[in-house]
Order: sequence, then C-alpha cells, then structure tokens
Amino acid sequence: MNIEPTQATLGATVTGVNLNSLNDDQWQAIEAAWYQYAVLVFPAQHIEENAHIALGERIGPLEELMTNRKAVPISNRKADGSSVDLSSDHFQILKGNEGWHTDSTYMPLSARASILAADVVPEEGGQTEWADMRAAFDALDSATREKIADLAAHHSLYYSQAKVGHKASSGASYGLSDQDVPLRPLIKVHPVTQRPALFIGRHAHAIPGSNEEESESLLTQLTDFACQPPRVFAHSWRPGDVVMWDNRCVLHRARPYDYSQPRTMRHVRVAGDPRSEAGINS
Ligand code: OGA
Ligand code: MN
Repeated sequence: MNIEPTQATLGATVTGVNLNSLNDDQWQAIEAAWYQYAVLVFPAQHIEENAHIALGERIGPLEELMTNRKAVPISNRKADGSSVDLSSDHFQILKGNEGWHTDSTYMPLSARASILAADVVPEEGGQTEWADMRAAFDALDSATREKIADLAAHHSLYYSQAKVGHKASSGASYGLSDQDVPLRPLIKVHPVTQRPALFIGRHAHAIPGSNEEESESLLTQLTDFACQPPRVFAHSWRPGDVVMWDNRCVLHRARPYDYSQPRTMRHVRVAGDPRSEAGINS
C-alpha cells in the first residue's frame, strides 16, 4: 500500500490496495493514515455496495439516510436514469451542499465519517473540496481563540437551506423532521486524536449570547478564514474513485457543474458516537 500526502494540510491518496477485498492489516494502516490526514482518496476502486457498507462499518454503526438503506445515492438521476426535478427538495439539498458543511450536524448525533464513491461524473466541475479545521484552529490568533472558546452554535438544515433560497418542507428529506435543533461548541476536540478543530459550516447559526448579525458575521468570518490554502484540498472525480473523510475535523463542499450532465455517487455515512457527537443541549 502506498500513501501519498497532498500539498495541503489534509488529505492523502492511497494506492496499492483493493477496497473490495480489504484485510484487517490493511484496514489498520488505512485507519492510522485517516487519523493523520483526515481525508483519504482511493482512485479507481469501483467498490461494490456491500464492500462500501462494510468499509463504513469498520469505523462504526451507519446512519440510514433513507429507510433501511445503509448506502444511498447522491445523484441528479433517478433509478430509471431520468433527470431529477431541479426544483425538488432532493436536488435543492444537493445544491445546498455546495456550501461548506459537515454531515449530519443538524441531526441529534453529528456524523463520524462519510465515504463517497463516484459512478458517473460530469466532464467539467463537480469536484469535492475538503478544508482542514484542525489546521484552521491552529492558525487562529489568540484573541479569536479566546473569543470563541466557550461559544456554541445551533445546527439546522431548515436554516441552511433557507439561506440558499430553498424553503424546505417538514418531512421532505433526511434532516427535515421535527427533531430538536442541536447546539454544538465551535471548538470540537477529536475523540480519538484529541486535536482541537473548528466545528462550523453552513448549518451553524444562532450563537447563544450573540444577536443574529453578530452570530452570522462571526461564523462567516471563521469559515472564510478556515477555508483557505494551505488548508483546502480538491478532488476531481473519475468513475470508481472512493473518498473517505472524518466529519469531526473537516468541512467539505461540492463544486458546481452543468446540471444537465449526470453525476451519480454512492454515499455511506458513519454515525457519531453519543459520547462525543451529541449536542450539548440534548
Ligand atoms: C456528501 C456531500 C459532496 C459532493 O456526500 O455528503 O456533501 O461533492 N457530497 O457530492
Ligand atoms: Mn456532505
């Protein structure tokens, strides 16, 4: 197995391993690299759905984003190959994911990991980018660190979708039920590595103790600062690529593309640990 770090503070490309027939020793090497680099790219794996699910389950129990589905499509095509309605809640949320975010922070447990596998990708655009919130925390000046040390924000998908002009209706999608809105500290200490990281993203809003304007302005300022080189890394997808990332310490976003072209990915999401990924108000 070969692990090649990117030029950024996060991310590495892993070759010389077959994710369809992974053994325990290989997994241990992958897991160690994952804690170090936070995002691992595995080119041209063409991973089967069962192996994709099994890879996620090596990390922990999975979230089911659709009833009884451990792997879900992230796709602008329906099962029959026809285009999804660009005004549908489903597509509006995919488009919303062009904003920096961490998966499931709006759920009672925010996600531990996500693993995305590309099937059909557009010729241009449609990359995914990740930003290193550990390095972002390390780079904060001490005044900002002190200012945010005891702050928290609410996380909601209704909020983030409304901000991009989508009035999401209750029950329309995963994350749009009437669960309580979790409150999460702006600094998250990683439960395994113990490294502190900024914990922000598009679902974050309404910092208790700040008015709406102060809250928005602080969160925007932190995101703009955090998501800058050398802390950002982009992957241009080829069919068969697999990327696994640690939602506890990175933000990610999709990049735009020509939506008339098919883009079909499969997503497996590993649930957070109730000891470290629950809201502080639950
Ligand atoms: C996701 C996600 C981005 C993309 O799968 O959680 O945000 O580029 N995907 O599809
Ligand atoms: Mn996502």
